[in-house]
Parts: sequence; C-alpha cells; structure tokens
Amino acid sequence: MSIHTAYTDAAAVAAYAEGPPRMVPGFADMQRMCLLLLAEHAAADARILVLGAGGGLELEVFANAQPQWQFDGVDPSAEMLQLARTRLHIHSQRVRLHTGTMDIAPAGPFDAACCLLTLHFLARDERRRTLAEVRRRLQPGAPFVAAHFSFPQEPGVRERWLARCTAFAISSGIDPDKARAREKGLGAQLPILSPEDDQSLLREAGFSGVELFYAAFGFRGWVATA
Ligand SMILES: C[S@@+](CC[C@H](N)C(=O)[O-])C[C@H]1O[C@@H](n2cnc3c(N)ncnc32)[C@H](O)[C@@H]1O
Repeated sequence: MSIHTAYTDAAAVAAYAEGPPRMVPGFADMQRMCLLLLAEHAAADARILVLGAGGGLELEVFANAQPQWQFDGVDPSAEMLQLARTRLHIHSQRVRLHTGTMDIAPAGPFDAACCLLTLHFLARDERRRTLAEVRRRLQPGAPFVAAHFSFPQEPGVRERWLARCTAFAISSGIDPDKARAREKGLGAQLPILSPEDDQSLLREAGFSGVELFYAAFGFRGWVATA
C-alpha cells in the first residue's frame, strides 16, 4: 500500500489510531507539549487551526483540555476526516472540518495553529507555500507548532535513521514484515528534510523565533511565531 493510500483505504483508516502511539516515540507527550505551547499564547476562547487534522487525535486532546477553544481542521482525506468526526462527536459544536489542502482553510485570523505528522508528505516548495499560507492566517505573534519526520538526509545516514524508526515500530509490537515494508515506502515516497532544512523553511515562510521542542529518533518538533 502506498503511503498516501493509507489515508483513504477503509481498513487502514479504521486502524489508524493504533499506529502513531506505536510508531512515534513519546507520541502522547508530544501532543501534550503541543497543547501547552499553543496555550502559552492562546486565550481560553481562542480559535485554533489544525492542518492535517485527519483522524482527530490531536483535536481530541486539545478539545478535551480546552473546553472553549474553537477549531478548524483541514485535511484532503475525507475518510480521515470522517474518523475525526466520529472521535470528536461530543465536541462537534466547536470543531469544523474542511476537506482539502491548506488552500481551502478559512481565512482566520487564528490565534494558534499546529500541524502534526503531516508536513513530511509535502515536497519542499509545496511545504514552503503551505507554511506561508498558515502564517498568513495567523494573528501576529501567534504560535505555530509542527512535528514530523525530520532527520539527516546524507546517503547512508538517511537509511540509518529510517531503520531506527522501523526498529522502534517493531519494538512497539508492529509486525516486522509490515514495518520493513513501511520503511521502504517511507524511504521511496516521503520528501523528508533535514532538521536544518525544516527550520529554514519555517523562516522562509515568515515565521520567527523558531525553537526546537521535541526530538525523538526520526521526529522533530518546533514552535515558531507568526
Ligand atoms: C499521519 S496522519 C496525521 C494525522 C494527525 N495530525 C495525527 O497526528 O494523528 C497524516 C495526515 O496528513 C494528511 N495530509 C496529507 N497531505 C496533506 C496536505 N497536503 N495537507 C494537509 N494534510 C495532508 C493525510 O490525509 C493524513 O490525514
């Protein structure tokens, strides 16, 4: 299965929520740190933009913790958004979900934004453009939090980090054959960037004060200011 089909195939989407906690080291704590970083600046009734919101995992954490925040979630996968809708039914009054990429996101202005486990799907130019579109919709000074695959891309080193990510998945109980097949897919299909490149793109998109808050095997997370 291609990396992208994983977000439209019915069986894969139904099993989605089991994946990140087993593949992303410290997944729940990473989500919690995102929440805290957004809450540093976002008021109790803030309007929050979530890009790559499919599945609804971070929306659920944020909505449970912040009973007055209003959310707009954007994702091109109707199937992943349906999963999010189901998870978020008790919060449905304050969560709007939009099917598409960043271009269809409401104009805002938003008080904070986040994008988890998603930017690694976007090639460099599209990533820069998307980040600039996020920034354009944020209030000046608003925080943006992103976390995704990001590791050195030199030949040999890239493969070592991919293998470490696979080892982590296997150690979490994922079937070794499936984990190795996924590694091949990731290696061939994902335009993963180095941490230095990722930070540069945030700055090129107009963000300032870029700070690393999360580094876990092949994943990095940053908070930046619009
Ligand atoms: C690994 S899931 C992450 C979902 C959620 N943020 C989480 O942490 O569980 C990646 C999501 O990115 C979405 N996606 C892929 N390309 C995208 C794009 N260009 N813009 C926004 N979302 C995208 C996929 O449809 C999928 O729902």
